[in-house]
Amino acid sequence: MQVILKQMGDCILRRCEEINLRTLPEHYSDYFYESLLEELPEAFIVAEISGKIVGYIMCKIEHGFSNFKKLGFVKKGHVVSIAVIDEHRRKGFGSILVDEAVKGVKTIQGSELYLEVRCSNNDAVKLYEKLGFSIIQRLKTYYRDGEDAYVMAIDFTS
Ligand code: ACO
Ligand code: ZN
Repeated sequence: MQVILKQMGDCILRRCEEINLRTLPEHYSDYFYESLLEELPEAFIVAEISGKIVGYIMCKIEHGFSNFKKLGFVKKGHVVSIAVIDEHRRKGFGSILVDEAVKGVKTIQGSELYLEVRCSNNDAVKLYEKLGFSIIQRLKTYYRDGEDAYVMAIDFTS
């Protein structure tokens, strides 16, 4: 049975059940998608309009040092990728995808959620800031083309 997490106009958000994301802007191998889906189905969410997937967010779970508590060891979500197709951007779908991923990470007792984003990706940085993420650090030449990344994170315990 398909569980609808949220509805916004004619768009529904639901957990991803099958890997069928080939039309989306950022492509990874099916194996990669499937391993993430298996690991954290609570935060692998798709946005769908009339049966067509128009956006997704996928996350993994990690155990490691906190982005917030000095020397704290935590269970945290990591946004591996989020995208909305071009013609449906700026309608709030990206925001509700992140919101639902936050809920998913909380349901498995994750205490924070973090991600890396290109420093030049103003749209995405703005979106994350709007949702309560802060820039934690800058990673020099994080991407293969030499660009730096921001690490951005949100703390659920404060
Ligand atoms: N210009 C300025 N601000 C923007 C823009 C834009 N083009 N797009 C989003 N924002 C900001 C705004 O503050 C916006 O709020 P507002 O519309 O009320 O002003 C806020 O973000 C939320 O916008 P949404 O409509 O919720 O976001 P959208 O559905 O457009 O999705 C996304 C945003 C996912 C970043 C989309 O632009 C996209 O798919 N980009 C290409 C892929 C990408 O860059 N993904 C993120 C990489 S980082 C990572 O994956 C961990
Ligand atoms: Zn990452």
